[in-house]
Amino acid sequence: MPDEKKHTDDGKQEARSKNPDAKPPARRRRQASKPGRQDEQSRGRQRSAEGKNRSFESKARPAPRKSPQRTHDVKPTVRHVMELKGKRPIVALTAYDAIMGKLISEAGVDFILVGDSVGTTLLGFDTTIPVTMEDMVRHTAAVRRSNPQCLLVADLPFAEASMSFDRFLDSAKRLMQEGGADAIKVEGGRDLADDIEKLVATGIPVLGHIGLLPQTVKALGGYRKFGSVPEEAESLYTDAISLEEAGCFAIIAEMMEEKVATELAGQIIPPLIGIGSGPNCDGQILVTQDLLGLTAKGVPSFVTPYANLGQDISRALGKYVQDVRGKKNKAR
Ligand code: KIV
Repeated sequence: MPDEKKHTDDGKQEARSKNPDAKPPARRRRQASKPGRQDEQSRGRQRSAEGKNRSFESKARPAPRKSPQRTHDVKPTVRHVMELKGKRPIVALTAYDAIMGKLISEAGVDFILVGDSVGTTLLGFDTTIPVTMEDMVRHTAAVRRSNPQCLLVADLPFAEASMSFDRFLDSAKRLMQEGGADAIKVEGGRDLADDIEKLVATGIPVLGHIGLLPQTVKALGGYRKFGSVPEEAESLYTDAISLEEAGCFAIIAEMMEEKVATELAGQIIPPLIGIGSGPNCDGQILVTQDLLGLTAKGVPSFVTPYANLGQDISRALGKYVQDVRGKKNKAR
């Protein structure tokens, strides 16, 4: 059962379990591991992340924003995404180029993710591991040039967050300054929480990502659901609470057992954005190529394609080839 939320005087939401056995042990464990940490610090962190993000928005951008023509209830801010929790489902999609960036923004999504899934969707790799910072900066800048009206989040590629804090900071900085991202996403839970906290304090809004982490696919040996055994479910709680305390403005839950994702969405303050984690998250994200049926190898089982663009393109290209060969094409 999702937990009941209580708003205290200072506006902070407190998760209050209806079930006395369903206490959040993960929250205590993360705090216990940091005895000097002050609760007030983590309470104010999300507010300070948003405040500092504003100053980033006015900094270097590859393409200036043109005057927005708003047709949707969407604002390009982290605060907008955070405030949607409990009001309406958040919608996000991936984009890697200017054309898709424009179409997706016009559809009214709340944020666009330039995912490292660019490696498997566009660049022909089997996994996201070979994707580089150069790839991410180039594709993020391309989407930025489409002048999206929503928040633009860029993914940190494989190992960029785990080498050192300086490298983590430098890579995040490049995605924002050279790519024009408003925020970054990073795969990982409690192990990265301290560094994420420092990044957030620097003014870099961070989207967390737990559950299935595609960058660890080599270690995992394949893709699977997460949270089916109690130890794993508890570990997901620990990760989510750690990311919340570190100041993530939202958290992606990939391939999580529906029951665990439902419970987690009720427990944490930041919105939980699901992908393959059932309908009860605070929002949903999908890889756009999967949604549109534009993939070389089929789509994950949790995706319902809304189009079959791969087939449409094949038909159109085949017809063109036939028409030219049959001299039916009106070449000018
Ligand atoms: O890289 C990506 O597209 C992602 C989504 C699957 C959430 O991480």
